[in-house]
Amino acid sequence: MFSKISRPSARLFSTSSASYAKVAVIGAGGGIGQPLSLLLKTNPDITALNLYDLRGAPGVAADISHVNTSSVVTGFAAENSGLEKSLEGTDVVVIPAGVPRKPGMSRDDLFNTNASIVRDLAKAIGKISPKALIAVISNPVNSTVPIVAETLKNLNVYDPKRLFGVTTLDLVRASRFISQVAGTDPANEHVSVVGGHSGTTIVPLISQSNHPDISGKAYEDLINRIQFGGDEVVKAKAGAGSATLSMAFAGSRFTKALVQGLQGVSVVENSFVESPLYADKGVPFFSSPVTLGKNGVEKIHPIGDITAKESELLETALDGLKKNIEKGVKFVSENP
Ligand code: NAD
Ligand code: LMR
Repeated sequence: MFSKISRPSARLFSTSSASYAKVAVIGAGGGIGQPLSLLLKTNPDITALNLYDLRGAPGVAADISHVNTSSVVTGFAAENSGLEKSLEGTDVVVIPAGVPRKPGMSRDDLFNTNASIVRDLAKAIGKISPKALIAVISNPVNSTVPIVAETLKNLNVYDPKRLFGVTTLDLVRASRFISQVAGTDPANEHVSVVGGHSGTTIVPLISQSNHPDISGKAYEDLINRIQFGGDEVVKAKAGAGSATLSMAFAGSRFTKALVQGLQGVSVVENSFVESPLYADKGVPFFSSPVTLGKNGVEKIHPIGDITAKESELLETALDGLKKNIEKGVKFVSENP
């Protein structure tokens, strides 16, 4: 028997019907930022959308603002304290700012560029909207989330319930890829993916899916495809970046869940959060199913029963995560 919890985005209960959320997208002019902002414009629970980027956000905002939904879209440029203005009064800040991979690079190769981008954005959020829920998309997520945490700690405004690394794309991929193996409709497939967001730190729990019997080469290939799905896109884009459209889809799903939680609708999504689950192994951040509520993280669920093979995958993931997390923490201590 494998323990299961509710499917992602399942409505568990509703205590309020308040419907207002102001969401900022930081990096809104980029490959992810543009389609993500478009999808958020179609979310009726979002009433205000602030789009910020070093380049192009006012144009993206003008374009998206013509979509005939009620939310108000505002674009902010870097000049005249645009970042700060874009963060004012926000309930959720989504961060897809930073450079993407090119073929041959690991996500960790992005660290040198993206660490300081994310740190500086965290400083602004800590000053202007310290109560906002923060969803970090920028890679390497295993390190950028600890960077945001340490930066907010330095400003005395860190609330671990309000900080999220977005790992939803791994679940989206897992659901799609397993449906291709099993010949089923991906809408009916859910695979919990835990750990982190890069290579072998990504741990798909096939034993808890509808297809625990997938084995042998089919199992190995499926695990590999989920763990290295990002590489497939990086290779196919041949230097023009990494996943943007599927990421926008995943980021929109995760933002929707955060907003539903804020509105009193408890929702479960997997996310990379400060977590007690493996903290005793030196891994203080971990992605597992999380119930989202009015204050962000309401409950962190354990990963459930796993097989011996999945235990091996988990051990490998924990080794990698420990290093990635320590690297992020060290960066902020040396470059506050
Ligand atoms: P992109 O280059 O197309 O867009 C990034 C945008 O960020 C650009 O418009 C750039 O101007 C902007 N930017 C850079 N520094 C900024 C700053 N200081 N303030 C505001 N904006 C800034 O890249 P992309 O394809 O959109 O990817 C963005 C990031 O998301 C990358 O780090 C990528 O690796 C990551 N990513 C994560 C996931 C995930 O699952 N978490 C999936 C795909 C991509
Ligand atoms: C992904 O999983 O697609 C992203 O993390 C981008 C990448 O670098 O692969």
